[in-house]
Amino acid sequence: MKIIVTGGAGFLGSRVIRSLLANGGGKDGVPAFDSIVSVDLAPCPVEDPRVSSVTGDIADAAFAREIITEDTVGIYHLAAVLSGGSEQDFDLAMRVNVDGTRALLEAARATGNCPRFIFTSSLAVYGGPMPDVVPESLGLQPASTYGAQKAIGEFLVNDYSRKGFVDGRVCRLPTISVRPGKPNSAASSFASGIIREPLNGEASNCPVPLDTRMWLSSPDAAVKNLVHAIAVDGEKIGQWRTMNLPGVCVTVGEMLASLERVGGPAARALVTQEPEQRVIDIVCSWPGDFDVSRPLALGFVRDADFDSAVRQYKAEFVG
Ligand SMILES: NC(=O)c1ccc[n+]([C@@H]2O[C@H](COP(=O)([O-])OP(=O)(O)OC[C@H]3O[C@@H](n4cnc5c(N)ncnc54)[C@H](O)[C@@H]3O)[C@@H](O)[C@H]2O)c1
Repeated sequence: MKIIVTGGAGFLGSRVIRSLLANGGGKDGVPAFDSIVSVDLAPCPVEDPRVSSVTGDIADAAFAREIITEDTVGIYHLAAVLSGGSEQDFDLAMRVNVDGTRALLEAARATGNCPRFIFTSSLAVYGGPMPDVVPESLGLQPASTYGAQKAIGEFLVNDYSRKGFVDGRVCRLPTISVRPGKPNSAASSFASGIIREPLNGEASNCPVPLDTRMWLSSPDAAVKNLVHAIAVDGEKIGQWRTMNLPGVCVTVGEMLASLERVGGPAARALVTQEPEQRVIDIVCSWPGDFDVSRPLALGFVRDADFDSAVRQYKAEFVG
């Protein structure tokens, strides 16, 4: 029995693989498995005899059918072209984010075993006029190519679930902060950069107004929730498989106050404020707060506050 993780070489994918290995399978609702297969353009960095790394393009339908075989009990579909990259290369993003998702769903359907299918979606599916606190029932008006493509993926996973082809779980992730490493092509990359770079003694620019509300999760909480997503009973989720995963709502100004509390005034002074319209257009169209009563009742979790996410990063990665 195997679990497939597309995007297994990526930031969240490699962490999900490590957490699944720590669980071992067959515990706390996680299906029993003997192996985990990372599927990515790049090799998986996790070294463990239970992990095999397959490199290839998920948008290749024949490749998808080759890797998703009858012994597949779960599929984490995390591979994607991210928000900034999707805006820059529409055709590549259509191929990976839409055609790739469909190819994986078809391969999962062909197993005939209704495997669990976890799809990572995003706040970018929202846009247009929004209430202060977004309910699950709010209609989708994506304001970016990435958001539109994630919305298409969500609907596909829901309908393949309704038809009994897969047992889908759509996780709309909050923006992850503080993400270690280098800036990436996501428009929200600054949400980690304005904390991470100053804590490492480097300057960073904040491209959005200080009153911009962000919906954030630490990497640890996000990975815990993704592991819970394969474990939770599908019947309890109900027919509508899309969930806004819990996060904390903070303004960018409050994020910088957390930086100052944890890293001191010298760290805060390293943040400049030059507006960047490309980022404002995407990130300021996203909601800042959500009604997450249903996912909390289903056992998903969130950070106590943003200070704890900053402390988590500092303890693990600074000095
Ligand atoms: N990190 C966040 O803040 C956040 C927020 C919301 C949603 N998400 C979603 O979570 C998922 C994982 O995000 P991440 O932060 O780990 O991103 P990441 O960029 O670190 O990982 C994505 C991986 O997908 C792989 N990939 C891209 N195109 C591929 C293809 N055609 N075939 C095979 N592999 C391919 C990349 O090589 C990369 O390793 C994505 O679907 C993303 O949209 C992330």
